[in-house]
Amino acid sequence: MGSGVPARRIEMLRGLPLFDHCTDRELAGLDRLVDEIEVAEGAVLTREGQPGRESFIVVEGEADVVLGGETIATLGPGSFFGELAMLDFRPRSATVTAKTPMRLLVVGPADFSAFLAQPGVAVKMLEVLVERLREMEASR
Ligand code: CMP
Repeated sequence: MGSGVPARRIEMLRGLPLFDHCTDRELAGLDRLVDEIEVAEGAVLTREGQPGRESFIVVEGEADVVLGGETIATLGPGSFFGELAMLDFRPRSATVTAKTPMRLLVVGPADFSAFLAQPGVAVKMLEVLVERLREMEASR
């Protein structure tokens, strides 16, 4: 398709719900804004109360979200986390730890605005944040 982005990367991005609204051309643009990493089980990806400079999208594996010592959610493929500190510049709201070996996409601080500006991404992210808010309200 001439974008220089390997087909495997485009396939992987296309499989993530956060990018449901993106065309192949937009996926190729997104590819330049993310790094792919692998982490071992037990890796601490965000730490509650600490500053954080990256946001993550889960490609493979699972992560626990722990708040005040209590696991409040488990996130699997297609989920994202670490966006809150990027949006409000406040400390991390929870500790996120790899429950299994994981493959992740990482968005660094310099690329987060461009990431959100990709068509459809912010709307998708808002939909998930609304769902999380409603789940939290329902569990109170
Ligand atoms: P951030 O505060 O940057 O770092 C911790 C992350 O945990 C946070 O962003 C969210 O992405 C995630 N998180 C916090 N609370 C919840 C929740 N109730 N459900 C799912 N993920 C959460």
